[in-house]
Amino acid sequence: MRTPPAILKFYLRLGIVMNTRTGNTNCLWKRDFVLLIFTGLMVLLIYSLTTEKIRTERILVSKLQEKPVLCPVAISEESITPLKNTKHYLVSAFMDQRVKGFDIRIIGIFKRDSINPLHCSFCCGGVCNKTSPATILPHSDHFGFPYTATDVLCQIPKNCDPSSVTVLTQPSSNASDHVFIPIRNKKEEIRFNFTVCISSLFGDYNNVLQFAQTLEMYKLLGVNRVVIYNTSCGPELERLLQSYRQEGFVEMVPWPIDRFLNPSRGWLFSKHGGDLHYFGQIVTLNECMYRSMERSRYVLLNDIDEIIMPYKHENLVSLMNSLEPQHSNVGEFLIENHIFPKKHFEPSGRFHLPQWEKVPGINILEHIYREDPERGVYHPHKMIVKPKLIEQTSVHEVLRKFGERYKVPLEVCRIIHVCVSMRGYLKLEELNEDKRLWD
Ligand SMILES: *[C@@H]1O[C@H](CO)[C@@H](O)[C@H](O)[C@H]1NC(C)=O
Ligand SMILES: *[C@@H]1O[C@H](CO)[C@@H](O)[C@H](O)[C@H]1NC(C)=O
Ligand SMILES: *[C@@H]1O[C@H](CO)[C@@H](O)[C@H](O)[C@H]1NC(C)=O
Ligand SMILES: *[C@@H]1O[C@H](CO)[C@@H](O)[C@H](O)[C@H]1NC(C)=O
Repeated sequence: MRTPPAILKFYLRLGIVMNTRTGNTNCLWKRDFVLLIFTGLMVLLIYSLTTEKIRTERILVSKLQEKPVLCPVAISEESITPLKNTKHYLVSAFMDQRVKGFDIRIIGIFKRDSINPLHCSFCCGGVCNKTSPATILPHSDHFGFPYTATDVLCQIPKNCDPSSVTVLTQPSSNASDHVFIPIRNKKEEIRFNFTVCISSLFGDYNNVLQFAQTLEMYKLLGVNRVVIYNTSCGPELERLLQSYRQEGFVEMVPWPIDRFLNPSRGWLFSKHGGDLHYFGQIVTLNECMYRSMERSRYVLLNDIDEIIMPYKHENLVSLMNSLEPQHSNVGEFLIENHIFPKKHFEPSGRFHLPQWEKVPGINILEHIYREDPERGVYHPHKMIVKPKLIEQTSVHEVLRKFGERYKVPLEVCRIIHVCVSMRGYLKLEELNEDKRLWD
């Protein structure tokens, strides 16, 4: 007997429903009919309660519960859901059984000075009173901002197959008053080799030419999906993204973070102020990695003005096929960033095409001079990760992982990053001519 209490509860509810219906005196025959069924059901229930036929019982319960007793909770389809009675926000919940003792990982945005014990709440078989204590893991990379990306880990209660979850401040709180979020990654399978995660598009960003060229370059390199978190963008970029979304290459995730918080346009609280680092970049990168975990072999964590470019292989597929056998335990492949200053143009004008003249943005094919990084100072990387081996990521490195790290040699792969120069004092002759994009 696994769930007699649920059965009893249902039995009682059924009684109430039946009584209400039969309150109509004009329909006595109906009442008798209903009573007959009612008695029959009682016999069946007693039978199932007193035998070991758990299967029969379950089938009966699920059949009976189809109609009247559905879980009466609200389920949010939004990307950001305020958490009642707290200053925190829930973003997404994922099935994740990689850490022993836990089944669910909720990604949230938490106010660091207000973190108190919490409890996950589940609906099991139509009854929403099951809870389990939550383990709260704020990400260490908060750069001084009051809010930070936070993971909430929970165990699913026994004999429960929940499709949604919420978080309570007291295990005795009434879950019906709370908004639940769906649990993702329950039924996904690998269908992509490479997913690129682009965090938080905001302001009136309208660098259409570079965006379009970069997306096309990703396609040539074997990327199957680009996930973009959208707070806002410029009008031409909007049209471009709509069309890539229609063809299924781009997945747009609404990211209205400015409706809830004062997101910072910078990365350091002491310098830029605001509630949350760079429009929630760390939250979106982690959300994207978990969203891709069961469906994509690799995830590329870079910005839209960066291209992770193999220099010895035709594309990312053959690059990773060649790295994989020697580095099967590696979850984090670090790729060094190389800047191609936008102020230096390629002299022949070969790619200065008239049809692109009116398109707003940078033409990356015109910038072929590469700065060498200054070797004495910190130089950032971006990553190709195997999402199943990563637990928490930041922007330039992974914070918690199950696998190892490997720094991919420069000759094999580097990031082509067309933007303002980092070492503007260098003369053109001191830069390296690099036409890899032209290939
Ligand atoms: C949950 O509800 C069931 C059925 O109504 C009841 O038997 C059980 O005691 C409740 N559990 C808690 C923890 O309240
Ligand atoms: C819980 O809240 C729901 C909806 O607000 C309400 O209908 C129900 O009576 C409440 N249950 C308890 C035990 O307070
Ligand atoms: C993934 O890569 C393999 C080669 O390793 C290729 O055969 C397959 O078609 C690729 N899948 C997609 C969806 O691109
Ligand atoms: C991006 O978000 C803005 C603001 O919500 C919205 O108006 C726009 O349609 C979105 N663009 C795309 C391509 O999803």
